[in-house]
Amino acid sequence: MNSEFAGKVVVVTGGASGIGRATVELFRELGATVMLADVDRDRGEQLAGELGERVEFRQVDVGRPDQVETLVSHTVERWGGLHVMVNNAAVSSPLARFLDDDLSAFERIMSVNVLGVMAGTQCAARHMARNGGGAIVNMTSIGGTQAGGGVMIYRASKAAVVQFTKSVAIELARNDIRVNAIAPGNIPTSLLASSAAGMSEQEIERQERAVREVMRKNRPLPREGTPADVAEAVAYLAGDRARYVTGVVLPVDGGTSAGKPLPRRE
Ligand SMILES: NC(=O)c1ccc[n+]([C@@H]2O[C@H](COP(=O)([O-])OP(=O)(O)OC[C@H]3O[C@@H](n4cnc5c(N)ncnc54)[C@H](O)[C@@H]3O)[C@@H](O)[C@H]2O)c1
Repeated sequence: MNSEFAGKVVVVTGGASGIGRATVELFRELGATVMLADVDRDRGEQLAGELGERVEFRQVDVGRPDQVETLVSHTVERWGGLHVMVNNAAVSSPLARFLDDDLSAFERIMSVNVLGVMAGTQCAARHMARNGGGAIVNMTSIGGTQAGGGVMIYRASKAAVVQFTKSVAIELARNDIRVNAIAPGNIPTSLLASSAAGMSEQEIERQERAVREVMRKNRPLPREGTPADVAEAVAYLAGDRARYVTGVVLPVDGGTSAGKPLPRRE
């Protein structure tokens, strides 16, 4: 296959749904062999089954560094290498106002969203450092780069991913490992459902509509984003066209973080 990813091995965490799923599909289309890692066995197995022989599913809780280490060593043994690591898995925090927030969720959210990214980066980089380098892409959020109300633990976790990514990019540059982050926004996925524990289906739907409306009002590009829009940016940062790019945080958010849209022409 005439693609720079042909013969390359890519790990995508949180690959069973949303942005991770689109990323798995794109890398596969671009010729890579993809290890789809996710805590959700049913969805992961089904997707890997649908995508066929260059995609394998592995059940992993990225909040457990021992499982992340096994994921990387299994991938290297199974496919003979690891060239791209996409640390995408995350959970959101409860939608409650901060005064009512349940801070007992802190440790779990930080384990998945921050420790998971750090462990994924470290395990992949240890292999890449011994094998000629590689590319790592970490998923943050515009919620980690811009201040705003709500989901405070999530925001704090995503801000940590920004600082970690830039700092570790400096350290790993000498090993020819590029580390970058993407800050998506406005991408309808099931992420909101992880904020919605205890809510009825109608309440989740109502919240989703409200969130989409706020996003629409704050977004210069008129159309809503898709998981595939983010996957394209992951492939860019992971690929040779970004060979001199490291330590950046690329917003993929329809311009939301650039500033307010002009008033709409009705
Ligand atoms: N959708 C958006 O607009 C948006 C905005 C900003 C950032 N993001 C980020 O994009 C990434 C993907 O989110 P999404 O919107 O596709 O959400 P999603 O809920 O559709 O997908 C998240 C996936 O991660 C998996 N996952 C959750 N906990 C895990 C764990 N402990 N170990 C392994 N897998 C786990 C889930 O099972 C799911 O398949 C996340 O890092 C999220 O914070 C999304």
